[in-house]
Amino acid sequence: PTDRIIAPSLLAADFGRVKEETTRAIHSGADWMHLDVMDGHFVDNISFGPAIIQAIHDTNDVFLDVHLMISRPDHFLSRFVEAGADMITVHLEAEHDVAETLKRIREAGCKAGLAINPATPFIDTLPYLDQIDMLLVMTVVPGFGGQSFMHEMMEKVESAASYRDEHGLAYHIEVDGGVDASTAPVAAAAGANVFVAGSSTFKAPDMAEAISVIRQA
Ligand code: DX5
Ligand code: ZN
Repeated sequence: PTDRIIAPSLLAADFGRVKEETTRAIHSGADWMHLDVMDGHFVDNISFGPAIIQAIHDTNDVFLDVHLMISRPDHFLSRFVEAGADMITVHLEAEHDVAETLKRIREAGCKAGLAINPATPFIDTLPYLDQIDMLLVMTVVPGFGGQSFMHEMMEKVESAASYRDEHGLAYHIEVDGGVDASTAPVAAAAGANVFVAGSSTFKAPDMAEAISVIRQA
């Protein structure tokens, strides 16, 4: 089995100290930083954009996993590339030509991720699975941190893992939402290998301990 990649979500950090919070996550054992971009339209919340990502990129060289919860990812793509994103994940449900956006992400030298909301079935991703580096199976309705992990999404994770292995593909499978010491092993058993964790890491009394538990649980 692949080693787990733990990606703390900045959304649960102290926004007045994003650079220090990123450094704290790295020193606590984070593999990637997960950066949730929300436009107040695709989801019912507004978070931050390219300037904050640029500021983090300027002070840390950690892998930046950028999750775009925005209606027009194609329109804003180049700004996230320039800001220093390493992985750019776009939603299947957004208003864009999905295949074209994925192609542009890779042409820009970034890894390409595709995300699906809880209501979207796995089969909708089939046309794109040979064009992605990661499939993000949302385990909450996107928009807010601190929600409960939806166990019923594990069926999609299992399908994604078996489809990948049957077709000789190599994409990562990421879960995002409600991931903690008790749900990470459930997702890992289903086939996920990238674990986004906001509240359970940044708000833990000991972040290093929290990350290590998610890695080993
Ligand atoms: C939800 C975001 C998540 C969120 C996860 O819309 O995509 O990345 O930060 O937060 P927790 O881990 O607190 O559920
Ligand atoms: Zn996210």
